[in-house]
Amino acid sequence: MKPTKSNGPRFIITCFFFILFISLLASINEVRFGSLLKFGRCALSKITSQSYNSSSNDLLTPNSSSNDIRILLGILTLPDQYHHRHFLRLIYGTQFPVGAKVDVKFVFCNLTKEDQNVLISLEIMHYDDIIILNCSENMDKGKTYTYFSSLPDMVNSSDGPYPPYHYVLKADDDTYFRLKALIESLTPLPREDLYYGFGSPCSSMDPFVHYMSGMGYLVSWDIVEWIRDSDIPKNNVEGPQDKIFGDWLQKGHRAKNRFNNKWSMYDYPEPRTRCTHELWPGTVAIHRLKNQEKWIHTLKYFNVTQNLKPSKLYHISFF
Ligand SMILES: *[C@@H]1O[C@H](CO)[C@@H](O)[C@H](O)[C@H]1NC(C)=O
Ligand SMILES: *[C@@H]1O[C@H](CO)[C@@H](O)[C@H](O)[C@H]1NC(C)=O
Ligand SMILES: *[C@@H]1O[C@H](CO)[C@@H](O)[C@H](O)[C@H]1NC(C)=O
Ligand SMILES: *[C@@H]1O[C@H](CO)[C@@H](O)[C@H](O)[C@H]1NC(C)=O
Ligand SMILES: *[C@@H]1O[C@H](CO)[C@@H](O)[C@H](O)[C@H]1NC(C)=O
Ligand SMILES: *[C@@H]1O[C@H](CO)[C@@H](O)[C@H](O)[C@H]1NC(C)=O
Repeated sequence: MKPTKSNGPRFIITCFFFILFISLLASINEVRFGSLLKFGRCALSKITSQSYNSSSNDLLTPNSSSNDIRILLGILTLPDQYHHRHFLRLIYGTQFPVGAKVDVKFVFCNLTKEDQNVLISLEIMHYDDIIILNCSENMDKGKTYTYFSSLPDMVNSSDGPYPPYHYVLKADDDTYFRLKALIESLTPLPREDLYYGFGSPCSSMDPFVHYMSGMGYLVSWDIVEWIRDSDIPKNNVEGPQDKIFGDWLQKGHRAKNRFNNKWSMYDYPEPRTRCTHELWPGTVAIHRLKNQEKWIHTLKYFNVTQNLKPSKLYHISFF
């Protein structure tokens, strides 16, 4: 009798805690199950909407990304310019233009050193933004011809869109392109037979006078294919690359559509020449950014860091 008597309240207390424990468990499980259900629904809907959207984009719907302007921005540079490539990746990797797909690629000729083989392979593995042409490094002995004439076979693919790029741009590595402004300037222009840039000579506003400056010029894809196929460029590859490029088009009666984007493209204000202009908000491209000071001044002028998100992890004040 005694043990049961003393066990009575103990039993009740035990029962109470047991029931409390069970109900606690149940409530936890309910929450867990609920969130699991929600997560599952979420994941499922994400998958279905994704596959629906991507398949409709890739195939028929003339909408969104399939309507974007596709641009290849090829920056002609040298294999050993590792630091400068790193810098330009920052410059272009922090621009997010809408309504366009801009592929930035660094373009050079055959590698010539063992360390290049290793370091540039690593760059390609990480960034996949390098084009190595079949040529030996040269300024005015046909690198530009090799660049344009190699592209159709390099970027052609049967499962991608045609043309792979609406426009191909050739840029110097001391030129800064502002991609949003570039795209806005291209939107109203034809996508065929177009030659776009900063017309030479600097004093002329007529895009048919001669040629577009080597700071950066752009042509439509049909002209890239023409350069590959025609004998006119093939037989005339030596000389100042921007001038002979203009000569090809003149001789071939190409580029009926021309756009001289002076003074949205110009040389950096210092040292002053007939090709320079003050920095101004309507800028598409600035050339002759020959040192860090000029780059920094330019980047500050265009407020490129204004969207830096605040964080407890750093404190940066601009002067
Ligand atoms: C694409 O996805 C969005 C949600 O991200 C959805 O509203 C839309 O119905 C999907 N399909 C198409 C064809 O846009
Ligand atoms: C195309 O996309 C826009 C949003 O980007 C949407 O408002 C429009 O309804 C879409 N048109 C078609 C035909 O899917
Ligand atoms: C590369 O260029 C060399 C000389 O110009 C030529 O002999 C060779 O066939 C080319 N190789 C390829 C893969 O095109
Ligand atoms: C470039 O290198 C390839 C091998 O990687 C070689 O076949 C080609 O002849 C070289 N081209 C030139 C112009 O030196
Ligand atoms: C590129 O692809 C198009 C369409 O798939 C084809 O007509 C053309 O011949 C190809 N060009 C080259 C150089 O492979
Ligand atoms: C940069 O920001 C300043 C201050 O907000 C503004 O006054 C200036 O117009 C901006 N510059 C450009 C090029 O947008």
